[in-house]
Amino acid sequence: MAVRCLITAGPTREYFDPVRFISNPSSGRMGYALAAAARDAGWTVDLVSGPVSLPEPAGVMLYPVVTAEEMMRQADALFGPCDVLLMCAAVSDWRPALRQPSKLKKDGRGLTVELEPVPDILAALAARRRAGQVLVGFAAETEDVEANARLKLDRKGVDLVAANSVAGPDGAFGSDTNALILLGRDGYRLGIGPASKAEVARCLVAEVATLLAAR
Ligand code: C5P
Repeated sequence: MAVRCLITAGPTREYFDPVRFISNPSSGRMGYALAAAARDAGWTVDLVSGPVSLPEPAGVMLYPVVTAEEMMRQADALFGPCDVLLMCAAVSDWRPALRQPSKLKKDGRGLTVELEPVPDILAALAARRRAGQVLVGFAAETEDVEANARLKLDRKGVDLVAANSVAGPDGAFGSDTNALILLGRDGYRLGIGPASKAEVARCLVAEVATLLAAR
């Protein structure tokens, strides 16, 4: 069966002037490992990536984006024909309400930046999903990892949530290794890792392939 897979990876950047932004420490490594694993499974892969310092994976269509708004537009354009969505990107949850056109000058005083929420890309895509698609969200949590992640199954309208801890020095951000708890409907639960992100990605893709085959 030919499988088309859409993957988002990396952080987004939300600018408040031309050179300053808010973001997070996502390295993109988990998403890029997923892209490689999906390609190796024989899937056609579209990878929408925020700014990362990683080589372009071979055999994958790469769509670089910067902001959540750009990621939303690009993912939206690619979502229709995809069979699998792996929404691994660490989307910034807020963005500055205003983006100043020129660099702000410092004047020795503090600066208050008003933030507004960015659109929830995954929830928006899930709202227009078609039958047969498998949607996987990621949950990076600092506490109550599993309970918080399980809530996202319904809140986001997805089939699986891959939960990981980003607390402390062993957290997933920027690391070469990862441990995930994959949560699904009807109490489905699978621990993956700790292992290299490449190995974790292979296991996750294999689980999604099983789910896809059962549809
Ligand atoms: O709500 P929370 O940010 O914890 O959910 C994480 C999941 O939702 C991830 O799959 C992430 O890629 C996705 N997300 C999104 N759009 C946002 C925030 C998160 O698609 N604005």
